[in-house]
Amino acid sequence: MAKSADYRLGDFTFGRGWYMVADATKLEDAPMNLRYFARDLVLYRGESGTPHLVDAYCPHMGAHLGRNESSYIVRDKERIQGESIRCPFHGWRFGPDGRCDNIPYSDQKPPAAAKIGTYPVEERAGVIWMWFDEEGNEPSFDLPPLAMWDDPHWVQWKIDDLGELPQHPIEIVDNMTDMAHFTPIHGSRDIDYFYNEYDDHLQWQMFGAGHRTLIKEGDPPLELDTWYTGPGILQSFMRGEYPTHMLIAHTPVEDGVIHVWHALMVKFDHEATAEDVPAARAYQQASLDAFAQDFEIWSHKRACINPMMVRGDGPIDKCRLWYKQFYNPIARAGEFHSRLNGRIVMVDNRKPEDIPVEKRLADKQVA
Ligand code: FES
Ligand SMILES: [Fe+2]
Repeated sequence: MAKSADYRLGDFTFGRGWYMVADATKLEDAPMNLRYFARDLVLYRGESGTPHLVDAYCPHMGAHLGRNESSYIVRDKERIQGESIRCPFHGWRFGPDGRCDNIPYSDQKPPAAAKIGTYPVEERAGVIWMWFDEEGNEPSFDLPPLAMWDDPHWVQWKIDDLGELPQHPIEIVDNMTDMAHFTPIHGSRDIDYFYNEYDDHLQWQMFGAGHRTLIKEGDPPLELDTWYTGPGILQSFMRGEYPTHMLIAHTPVEDGVIHVWHALMVKFDHEATAEDVPAARAYQQASLDAFAQDFEIWSHKRACINPMMVRGDGPIDKCRLWYKQFYNPIARAGEFHSRLNGRIVMVDNRKPEDIPVEKRLADKQVA
């Protein structure tokens, strides 16, 4: 599999941004042992329920903070205390700021170097998200609000965990501008409009088209507003009788390998009840089936380092330039924004009066 350096993305191996690291419903009392960004990590809930994400290895003598069941620290339920995590080997304890705050057998103050790496974490919409930045800065953009999670008209999603995919994430992000794959892969027809828009750390794809099976000829097109917030979070809002809000999240595990999740929320015209859940799950499954059409290609393709473009392909070069901003120092982000911000229209057959004044329903009205 190809790596970041093969695609000449920039200074960093992994892009700066917010990423999904866990399905929040799976994080209970026991720490979760994770591997992302080519490092071993431990995710745990403090006694308050707040999640914390730390590097896995203890600076004392290198024990793994999460991979232990047999020690008396774990048996005596002393691993999590307050918001701190205690190492099972000799019992050093680390606060959520990563500093050692207790050595149970020593009258010596913990050395200043007794510190583990920590990462900003948020729990939102049933997902644990982390901020990753090789420069170690605070988040330079916000995690998507995903406010429909708390709106009773929406049936909350249940995350589909699709596991690991041996592809560099750029191959997935390419989809944003890949207009030519919609007909052969997804069964679209009569593309009414397709355009991309760049707005700093956001990349949009606005798409309206007919479909072989989902739409009858002459019916209004299926309309999807799809956008990336940074390099690892895709959301897609679809209008229709039942508006839906899809999430595709992908997080690097190693350079050139990602973990992928999918999920979908459905909005009803009344406060959703348990009776609406099966219909919402059926929509989620249909969405997953459409995503599987992309996934099958990604599962077997070779890396595409240099796309061979012809007229009718979308602006994949722009998409890749947008993506590179996250692999270079934040000080250079403005260069990318000033080169890219704006709209690139591939097709637009709509009459101006048919275009809503503000088409970005997805973030302005729903999110
Ligand atoms: S290795 Fe962690 S306390 Fe000794
Ligand atoms: Fe696709």
